[in-house]
Amino acid sequence: MHYTLSTFIMPLPLVAAWPAVMEAVNLENLQKRQGSIPVVPPPRFTTDRDNCGSHGKCTVFNAQDQLVNVASGSGHEWQAPGTNDKRGQCPGLNAAANHAFLPRNGIATIQQTIDGLGAAYSMSTDLSLALAAISIAISGDPVAGKWSIGGAFPATLGLLGQPSGIVGTHNRYEGDASIVRGDAYMHGGSVGFFEMHRWERLYGLAASKGGLTHDKVASQAYYTAQYSIQNNPYYFSNPFSGLVAPDAHNFVVHFMSNRSEENKGGILNGEVLKSFFSVTGEPGSFVHTPGHERIPNNWYKRPTSQPMNTIDTNVDTVINNQMYPGIIRFGGNTGTVNSFVGVDTGNLAGGVFNGGDLLQGNNLACFFLQATQAGLADSASPLLQPVGQILSFLNSNLGPQINALSCPQLSDFNNDLFNQFPGASYKAQGQ
Ligand code: HEM
Ligand SMILES: *[C@@H]1O[C@H](CO)[C@@H](O)[C@H](O)[C@H]1NC(C)=O
Repeated sequence: MHYTLSTFIMPLPLVAAWPAVMEAVNLENLQKRQGSIPVVPPPRFTTDRDNCGSHGKCTVFNAQDQLVNVASGSGHEWQAPGTNDKRGQCPGLNAAANHAFLPRNGIATIQQTIDGLGAAYSMSTDLSLALAAISIAISGDPVAGKWSIGGAFPATLGLLGQPSGIVGTHNRYEGDASIVRGDAYMHGGSVGFFEMHRWERLYGLAASKGGLTHDKVASQAYYTAQYSIQNNPYYFSNPFSGLVAPDAHNFVVHFMSNRSEENKGGILNGEVLKSFFSVTGEPGSFVHTPGHERIPNNWYKRPTSQPMNTIDTNVDTVINNQMYPGIIRFGGNTGTVNSFVGVDTGNLAGGVFNGGDLLQGNNLACFFLQATQAGLADSASPLLQPVGQILSFLNSNLGPQINALSCPQLSDFNNDLFNQFPGASYKAQGQ
């Protein structure tokens, strides 16, 4: 299977000038609240992607297949997490655990992740496997094969120390420029701070006509990247975590939209968004309750026959980046705001992908799967198993997907290029 970028870009009609969604968002109100608020330019073009994304529109609807039954008696009733249950910065995972699609304690195996996220969201086996294996490699317990959706948990005998869980993965999995959460450096090292100006903007997009779409969330991805540049002297975007944050913008639309017979691609309105993000109240007086993310009643996921795959999310990120150049960027501020310097991914990856090539065909998906290794030298420190063992764990889990995509061999990450960025060595504290 080989995709070229033009396959995705060309057939999308270039709809005339995009309606000014920004008007739904009151800039002045935002400014009062926090920081230097970016101005988002009009997109270079718009697309007709439905909420299942450009790679595979959702063409079927089957209520029985797609209803995610969380009613009383279903076994998937919502329950608030208990004091020892792990919850973190990912709303999709928190909601899945609150409904027992993942173990309620927030610690899961790869198989539990595949089964649970398939049932709750129609995430493909490949994508669940990749995301869970990466979690285990950089923040979990490779011996027991478990990872935590929140903070640290006790590891199997033989590991020194405790696996950090995904909240302890700053710049390796978790990163700056998230859709709602603030940058760790701006919040004393917390990676889970709910930044209201981001939320208010996102909610405004969802509450506007037609609900939240890929094109609208692309404007949020531009906004969040630009916000970091303008406000965080330590903003840093690592090759892998720097893709996770823009991809997670698309996850909202791909996974949280409500599908129906009339709208097979799905609609994501403000109410559904509030439920998934654990927000109550109204614009100007929103309240976020950490850990109470919830799958709404009467909510329909994408069809199980058209699940969301590893390629899908990266394809939409490439398109978003073409609409608003600058969403995909690797590098950082150099200690002051507005000082962003990019690193050439050609240098970064031993010459296999250069900046331009990265956006061609499957390359971004390949890079996504392969760049995790860049985080390993750092993460493997005294904590976990020797780097070699973790690498072979990752290879055995991700290798088949990398092979299936005919990815070019990526070797030779040169992390020295990051020394100029103070944010690259900044250690966050977790949630
Ligand atoms: C095994 C599966 C998954 C893993 C390992 C995972 C991991 C993560 C991580 C590490 C982050 C932090 C990234 C950042 O700094 O922005 C994150 C954020 C996020 N994830 Fe997930 N995730 C998974 C599945 C999902 C699903 C199924 C959804 C949607 C239903 C989702 C939606 C999001 C969103 C919206 C964010 C951004 C949160 C914010 O900024 O407030 N994720 N996830
Ligand atoms: C999803 O859409 C269906 C069909 O329009 C509707 O009946 C249902 O209430 C919606 N669910 C949510 C959570 O909005």
